[in-house]
Amino acid sequence: MFSKIPSQLKDFLSQFNDANSPSSDCYCSLTLVIATVIGLVVYGLYVRKFRHYIYHQVNDIKEEGRRVRGKCPPFFPNGWYRVLNSDELRTKEVKYLDYCGRHIAIYRGTNGRVYAVHAFCAHMGANLGVGGVVKSSKCLQCPFHGWVFDGETGDCVVSAGESGEKLVKKTVETYEYNDIKKLTKKDGKYLTKCSEGHSKLKTYEVKEINGSIMVWIDSREENQHKYPFEPLPIEIKSYQSYRGESINYVNCHIQEIPENGADIRHFDFLHRSFVAFINFDWVMTSHRASSPDIFEVMTHKRAFINDFKQKLLKRYITEENKNYVNVISLDCYVNILGFKFFFFNATGFQVGPALVYLFLKSRIFEITFEQAIIPMQKFHQRVSHKIYASRYLPYGLTAFMLYSEVQQVLNDMDIWNKKVFGDRLNYNMKTGADVNLCSWRNWFAQFYDGCHEYEKASDLNDW
Ligand code: FES
Ligand SMILES: [Fe+2]
Repeated sequence: MFSKIPSQLKDFLSQFNDANSPSSDCYCSLTLVIATVIGLVVYGLYVRKFRHYIYHQVNDIKEEGRRVRGKCPPFFPNGWYRVLNSDELRTKEVKYLDYCGRHIAIYRGTNGRVYAVHAFCAHMGANLGVGGVVKSSKCLQCPFHGWVFDGETGDCVVSAGESGEKLVKKTVETYEYNDIKKLTKKDGKYLTKCSEGHSKLKTYEVKEINGSIMVWIDSREENQHKYPFEPLPIEIKSYQSYRGESINYVNCHIQEIPENGADIRHFDFLHRSFVAFINFDWVMTSHRASSPDIFEVMTHKRAFINDFKQKLLKRYITEENKNYVNVISLDCYVNILGFKFFFFNATGFQVGPALVYLFLKSRIFEITFEQAIIPMQKFHQRVSHKIYASRYLPYGLTAFMLYSEVQQVLNDMDIWNKKVFGDRLNYNMKTGADVNLCSWRNWFAQFYDGCHEYEKASDLNDW
């Protein structure tokens, strides 16, 4: 049977060799179809790989505390933390977050809103973030004995308020050990009733902006629901498209990472070389948004950059947030064999301790990077960069930009992963760079208000 195939194939192909045969048109069409199919497959693979380019480093940090760390400020400064991307929390989905020394159950109610509550059930301590079930529009049910909590108020309620039924608070009595360590008796009993009334879980403020879910973490009890500033209300998706995300894990104190953004001199030193004969030259300015001369200091000599920059400053610096925002302006020049040309300018807004928005502008593109840090443990940071770009930019190009940015982060990581936190620094105050760094530290320290007391108290209970 097989011996017949070559001759049949030969006959079939010979039809196409005859230029005068009507089959030669057929041959052309077939070639075209095959080329189109191959082209489509290759383009499909390209789109699949680069449309949303993800770089996710392996998280292999073991925080054993053996390495020298130096004297550090508190570990979990007060601020907004981006804990999840919106598409990582579907309706009725529940997750447990163990970040910033907190234990949080986060979920999306059937009303589409995201709620975050203390993860451990007020009844007997089960983890609501693991196996908890979303009930009704905004309630979460414990997987252990089925108690239900209102995500908005934290109240323990008798039922989830299905079909519009009013939520009614459950009445409970609170008992505790007289002394959990020594186990002493009082009136012949180890436990004493200490109160009666309603039970409540701690709730966290949540904001969902531009595809990111952010939680307000504050060590000061009175500030749990009184955040002094908000994440930037960016609406990038209306004029740029999401192109991917890089995730790195770093073994250092959280402050090292944002401090790097205000460190003008290290750019020219650490981030200078790119490939063999191509170098980057950087020119940078860093200034507090609250300074009266911020618009003046940020003036750019190129008119198209200046227009863009001044609009950003006007849009994002407000009376309410200016004390909590630091602004940078960074010019990037590409230097090829001694020929230097302007590549782009980046306007950066550091908002609180853990969020940075970088707006890149050049003659041909606009790109936005959103950086978010989250302390998973004291010296274990998850650093993410999401990239958005002008819609007409090729996917491959933005993937390359994100990859290049990761290479710069890796350069920093080499330093961060091995350095001590410097609590006593020798600044050269004759240079603007170190004056800036000193000013930046003074600005950043405000986010530690109340953190020492909180962390010391929680360390007592840590096993
Ligand atoms: S531990 Fe949550 S209901 Fe009992
Ligand atoms: Fe850096």
